[in-house]
Amino acid sequence: MTPLPRPLLHFTPPQGWMNDPNGLVYLDGEYHLFYQYHPESLVWGPMHWGHAVSRDLLRWEQLPIALFPDEHGTIFSGSAVYDHANSSGLVPGGGLVAMFSYHTQTQGLAYSSDRGRTWHKYEGNPVLPAKAENFRDPKVFAFGGHWTMVLAAGDHLEFYRSSNLTSWEQTGRFDAELEVGVWECPDLFPLVHQGREHWVLFLSVADKAPNGGSGTMYWVGNFDGSNFVAQTGPQWLDHGTDNYAGVTFNNAPEGQRLFLGWMNNWKYGREIPADSWRGAMTLPRVLTLESSGSQATEPRLVQRPVAALEKLYASGRSLVTGPVNGLLKLGHVTQPFDLKLRLESAEGVGAVLRWSGDDWAFEVHWDPAGQLTLHRSLPLSATFHPHFVLPVVMPLPASKNLSLRVVGDFTSLELFANEGRNVVTALVYPATFELELELLAAGTGVFLLGGQISTLQAPEPGI
Ligand code: FRU
Repeated sequence: MTPLPRPLLHFTPPQGWMNDPNGLVYLDGEYHLFYQYHPESLVWGPMHWGHAVSRDLLRWEQLPIALFPDEHGTIFSGSAVYDHANSSGLVPGGGLVAMFSYHTQTQGLAYSSDRGRTWHKYEGNPVLPAKAENFRDPKVFAFGGHWTMVLAAGDHLEFYRSSNLTSWEQTGRFDAELEVGVWECPDLFPLVHQGREHWVLFLSVADKAPNGGSGTMYWVGNFDGSNFVAQTGPQWLDHGTDNYAGVTFNNAPEGQRLFLGWMNNWKYGREIPADSWRGAMTLPRVLTLESSGSQATEPRLVQRPVAALEKLYASGRSLVTGPVNGLLKLGHVTQPFDLKLRLESAEGVGAVLRWSGDDWAFEVHWDPAGQLTLHRSLPLSATFHPHFVLPVVMPLPASKNLSLRVVGDFTSLELFANEGRNVVTALVYPATFELELELLAAGTGVFLLGGQISTLQAPEPGI
């Protein structure tokens, strides 16, 4: 295998180990990304909050580590808000306040009055004691003139309210019959759908994601400021193996709901190929609610890469449309790339999109009866963990049409099927990074209705 290149479109830490995104907040033209960080090692260890800022979520400037372990413990996941009215009394004139878990499962605060450049821990830490063995990952947001928090408490979620970020009162809890390991990294946010406000509740679970290991689920329902009541059953945010602990930005401009996830899986996360850094975030995605087909009454989340990605198109070409008889060579693809194609299968015959190099291939199998499967079992040099070579399967609504967008960035593929309604995020380790793209049909009646391959240029570093 050639040396591991860094992804160009995905955030990666300068060195060492990274897991969850933390403290996602927008302020004065900057998106702040904090992240679970162990700078001295390629594996998880005493956690810090690393920090970076961006103006478009694609060009990141690395900043000094924001939060270091202290006498109360190491710094686990959490969130950050813009306390513009200084309700906390910690940031005269307004500033950022972060709320995080210590590894002891108590909750602490830190604050910054200089656009997140320097951070101070609150003297009264911890502000909330540990109520359970697993009691962590506070997501705080402004709602109805006060602060609301959702927190994971082992096998349920708890909701809290505060007027000053320092003292918290529990308002409710959320239970669900799930056998999914420890509950982690919740989020709760409103989205308007068909003129009505709905609330989306996120939960990341350590085990039993659709293709194994860790994954994120969500419910759509109502939140009255105290409690969340689900109106849908749990849905998986992503059927890929590599989108975990994702949360959304507070205070994002234009009411947008912007998401980043950790592109990895605790099942094999410590073993993925790495030399000086380990871990990447997903592409930044815009979340909306839509309903379609038989789910007309049940809104579902839709994920699309932020529009800024398309500003990085360097060169592009349209694919020749027409019937796919056997094998259709789509040509050479340079990384990173953004591929969009539309397929039709008149007679129910499936098609395979295949990337290959000298002695390896990845394949996406489309079955119009209702399934998309990613095979990333080759090359064999990627067998760092037996789970990694299993097929990644995603159910789809049965349809003779498929629209598929694939963003590839050296060591990841993000598949957005049906305009982002069905998503697979997967790490991949090809033997070489020059790709030949092919489309194969197992019989007659498969048409390539349209397609475009764009090569993306690296965002310039810094902002
Ligand atoms: C999720 C998680 C969180 C925790 C953090 C520790 O990946 O386990 O629950 O706060 O990572 O790094």
